[in-house]
Amino acid sequence: MLRTHTCGELRIQHVGQKVTLSGWVRAIRDKGHLLWIDLRDRYGITQLLIEEGKAPEALLKVARTLGREFVVQASGTVIERASKNDKIPTGDIEVAVDSLKVLNASDVPPFLIEDETDGGEDLRMKYRYLDLRRDIMRRRLELRHRAARATREYLDARQFIEVETPVLIKSTPEGARDFVVPSRLHPGQFYALPQSPQTFKQILMVAGFDRYYQIVKCFRDEDLRADRQPEFTQIDCEMSFVEQEDILQMFEGLVKHIFKSVKGIELDDFPRMSYDEAMRLYGSDKPDIRFGMTFVELNHLAKGKGFQVFDNSELVVGICAPGCANYTRKQLDELTDFVRRPQIGAKGLVYVKYQEDGSFKSSVDKFFSQDDLKQWAEAMGAQAGDLLLILAGEADKTRKQLCELRLEMGNRLGLRPENVYRPLWVIDFPLLEWDEETQRYYAMHHPFTSPKPEDIPLLDSEPGKVRANAYDMVINGVEVGGGSIRIHDQALQKKMFQILGFSEEEAEAQFGFLMNAFRYGAPPHGGIAFGFDRLCALMGGSESIRDFIAFPKNTSGRDVMIESPSPIAPEQLEELGLCLKNPR
Ligand code: AMO
Repeated sequence: MLRTHTCGELRIQHVGQKVTLSGWVRAIRDKGHLLWIDLRDRYGITQLLIEEGKAPEALLKVARTLGREFVVQASGTVIERASKNDKIPTGDIEVAVDSLKVLNASDVPPFLIEDETDGGEDLRMKYRYLDLRRDIMRRRLELRHRAARATREYLDARQFIEVETPVLIKSTPEGARDFVVPSRLHPGQFYALPQSPQTFKQILMVAGFDRYYQIVKCFRDEDLRADRQPEFTQIDCEMSFVEQEDILQMFEGLVKHIFKSVKGIELDDFPRMSYDEAMRLYGSDKPDIRFGMTFVELNHLAKGKGFQVFDNSELVVGICAPGCANYTRKQLDELTDFVRRPQIGAKGLVYVKYQEDGSFKSSVDKFFSQDDLKQWAEAMGAQAGDLLLILAGEADKTRKQLCELRLEMGNRLGLRPENVYRPLWVIDFPLLEWDEETQRYYAMHHPFTSPKPEDIPLLDSEPGKVRANAYDMVINGVEVGGGSIRIHDQALQKKMFQILGFSEEEAEAQFGFLMNAFRYGAPPHGGIAFGFDRLCALMGGSESIRDFIAFPKNTSGRDVMIESPSPIAPEQLEELGLCLKNPR
């Protein structure tokens, strides 16, 4: 037997027992006549003791050959520790070793295998197996496992069935770029990896499955960020005979259940906010509502007073940062530099200090009287001691810029605490988005999303005004999920493709299978998909979803452990019909 117990198991009641443990050497402390080894496995750490005079001579010798991360098996007797360690569950005991066997040696690891490690991300990714040996990483993957289990528990109890959909599918022009896989049997033809199982889950509804889910890998060839990976996992769901309200209820319940199971947190009912309201008050369709500082529009008060910047702007809009009137020149310059960064792109920042004595001091004192500034402060609900921060310009851009500034101020003021969760539903998204560059409409969500029935008449006259039966779930400024009620009517689906600029042939070639399916009794249906990695990262308090994926890609889309992507042999290329073996 390689072990009788794990390294996390032994307690004071085991004192006197003979045990065998196996694990990795985390640390060795050699005091000459006494030698301690911290033995680690997935379950914890147990201290081993080898005492000169008590343990056999040979044993000490073996112990002195050990290095960090050696795999060893140790047998001995559980004894009570002289000095206890209340930081670990096994801290009351240690094992007085009477036999020790090296199961495997280890090279010196390139970084410390501790929560606080000296390894940079690249190094940790290359040696991911060592990184995953760290307690903090193990806890993260355990959280992910519990979240998956809670998901299945909730959905299973509600008659959802998990169905696997294919990974080799067909490329479609909508959405992000596809990853494609060349077909050997059909030279010059390609499979695509699914960006989501969207069309398959709709077809499962036509097939009568009624309630479907899948915890499923999706693939998108898009630029990477902390919250985006080229392959990521969705909790993908679809239901038949439902309206938007049914879906919101069902999946609000799911997320509440996951938070309760994984974090022990009872979330309140989720408020709902229309897309328009979110954009107007927060400049974002994924507002962080852990704090206020909502936008106040000042056009009516700020324009027409001779300040060209405002007069020539479509929108003048500001936020009120509570208690910040004492900001120094340096702090204000920092904020100005922040909004001027190319990623944000504002031209400048106007500030107004509402000073404790009731007077105002601003960067635009030349153009505005104390009375003008007082009116702004009133409109923004400011108190003496507050700081008004104002941006101006083209409406959409200015809102986005102010959104960044608001989040920055939220950070500076500590208003975005990690363990507070404020979910909401953002609803009533526009159905379509106009793209200047290609001069056409794109589906804001995807082409299968149903318009709101009352807006259907606008489809011909003002397509940009049509709202969709689409919704996102947002938690702390992170879009964790999104979905919609689908079009189940063949004629309406055809019309959507038309509006999106597909010719009849293109629509047929791309989505003929779905339109065909709709000819055979498609039930009204709708669904949602959650970004599972994002949900886990959020619950685990991490900015990066990489921390919650066992083997993620780095920021340039590479797996540096297996070194992928990588070239393939010319023979393989030729077999796939991708190039000739001997060009020339
Ligand atoms: P959507 O494209 O909004 O909807 O995706 C659903 C959720 O998946 C997460 N997500 C990602 N997570 C990590 N890396 C990525 N690259 C990435 N892209 C998306 C987000 C997002 O909210 N088929 C529809 C769903 C539906 O209509 O039912 C879909 O895929 O958290």
